[in-house]
Amino acid sequence: MTKKIKDFHSIKFTGKFDRKKFYVTTPIYYPNDIPHVGHAYTTIAADILARWHKLKGEDVFFLTGTDENAKKVFLAAQKKGIPIKEFVDKLSGDFKNAWEKLSIDYSRFIRTTDENHVKEVIKILEKTHKKGDIYKGFYEGYYCIGCEAYYTEKDLEDGCCPIHKTEAELMKEESYFFKLSKYQKKLLEHYKKNPNFILPRKRAKEIINRVKGGLNDLSISRKDYGWGIKIPFDNTHVVYVWYDALTNYYTATREKGKEKFWPADLHLVGKDIIWFHAVIWPAMLMSLEIKLPKTVFAHGWWTFDKEKISKSRGKIINVDELISIAGSDSIRYFLFREGNFGEDIDFSKEKVIERHNNELADKLGNLVSRVSALAEKYGIEKAITHTHRANSQNKLFNKFKAKEIEKHFDNFEIDKALNLIFEFLHLCNEYVQEKKPWETHDKKVLFELVDSIRKINPYLGIFMPQTSQKIAKIFKNDKIKKAEILFKKIEK
Ligand code: MSP
Repeated sequence: MTKKIKDFHSIKFTGKFDRKKFYVTTPIYYPNDIPHVGHAYTTIAADILARWHKLKGEDVFFLTGTDENAKKVFLAAQKKGIPIKEFVDKLSGDFKNAWEKLSIDYSRFIRTTDENHVKEVIKILEKTHKKGDIYKGFYEGYYCIGCEAYYTEKDLEDGCCPIHKTEAELMKEESYFFKLSKYQKKLLEHYKKNPNFILPRKRAKEIINRVKGGLNDLSISRKDYGWGIKIPFDNTHVVYVWYDALTNYYTATREKGKEKFWPADLHLVGKDIIWFHAVIWPAMLMSLEIKLPKTVFAHGWWTFDKEKISKSRGKIINVDELISIAGSDSIRYFLFREGNFGEDIDFSKEKVIERHNNELADKLGNLVSRVSALAEKYGIEKAITHTHRANSQNKLFNKFKAKEIEKHFDNFEIDKALNLIFEFLHLCNEYVQEKKPWETHDKKVLFELVDSIRKINPYLGIFMPQTSQKIAKIFKNDKIKKAEILFKKIEK
């Protein structure tokens, strides 16, 4: 148990030797362009959950990375006239930089061009082939390069991909197939026995209905076009990118010391790629006789004027632009405060600024500044809540809904957890107004406030790591000094 949370409160912590593990993943992103709000959303969500489980004293493995062996990545490099390896090296670096700016504390950044990943993919293919779950055939059908996915004619809208609205390519070629259809029954049984396998529930229903409708075998190779992992039993073919990409979650745990993290506790994905994670991936694992992940959670999309972001229509915002609006912590806060994790939410810069000014500057910033100023002026009475029994004597802090927050985190209701934390900050502000410590000089009240801020600060750190560090410094000692402004207001 870390010192930081030793005298925390009601949450049950695991001991040093029986530490629970928590393994969370983000999708691995295509390095065909720089990271944008959609990538940031999933990655911050994973970071928040990873930080929550670390706070509980668990042994956390948080995996993110880049999905490099894709045809769309290859074509993007070609278009720019940059050698493909150089291109993916640069862009995977851009993703790493973006995550650093957003305080993403991942455990490993995997690249599907990593040697150990490639080795493991080859082993997996060999094993599946040996088992008889891969056969040679001929693929004839549609393909959307944006999705890197196969479509049937009836999936398309006027010949176009329903997601990218671009024309799907008609593909006709020899291909290896994975016997996905063989696992239909087993998948349905698994969904039934494990109601938390696909979340939120409404997404599970959609997937289950589709699986009930029947599964086609999956084309998992294409003729070698000069990029990608070669099929071990036929060097003229390369592996279909999703087949290679999905395995990253497992191959990352094939490193020394990491084996204990499999199966993953949580794959966080956007709703557009749930099929791959909730149907194809578990079927691949079933074939390999490897344990399945516990949960696949699909979140909604950030939209612009209610439309999915799109580069061609200029409705996109990249990570640097996001941070430039009001800073890294503010955007981390905004993305989970603005709407329900799981639903689509509409983005606007104005709303980021409004929340930054009205909530971070006026509520959190103001509370910290007032309480620290008053504590400097009148001092605090720590004797009253000196020991562990303190919690019950801090009437203000008793109103903090730690149990409910824990429940929300366990249900991946990140936004609801954040709302409760801010509800409590609101109570603290009201308490200052009501008790008027600047008139009464009541040291007990001041201590209750200081103590409450100290205790909720680790929760704030889950969402806003930089701010939380500043707050910790301000209230570290009992000789408190008036704090510098935490959030400068931004003009619209
Ligand atoms: N490479 C695949 C994933 C392979 S995982 C084994 C891929 N990459 S991606 O770069 O296209 O981005 C993936 C993630 O970003 C998805 O979870 C997707 O939902 C998310 N987002 C992309 N645009 C988004 C929004 N506008 N809003 C929220 N998230 C969205 O797919």
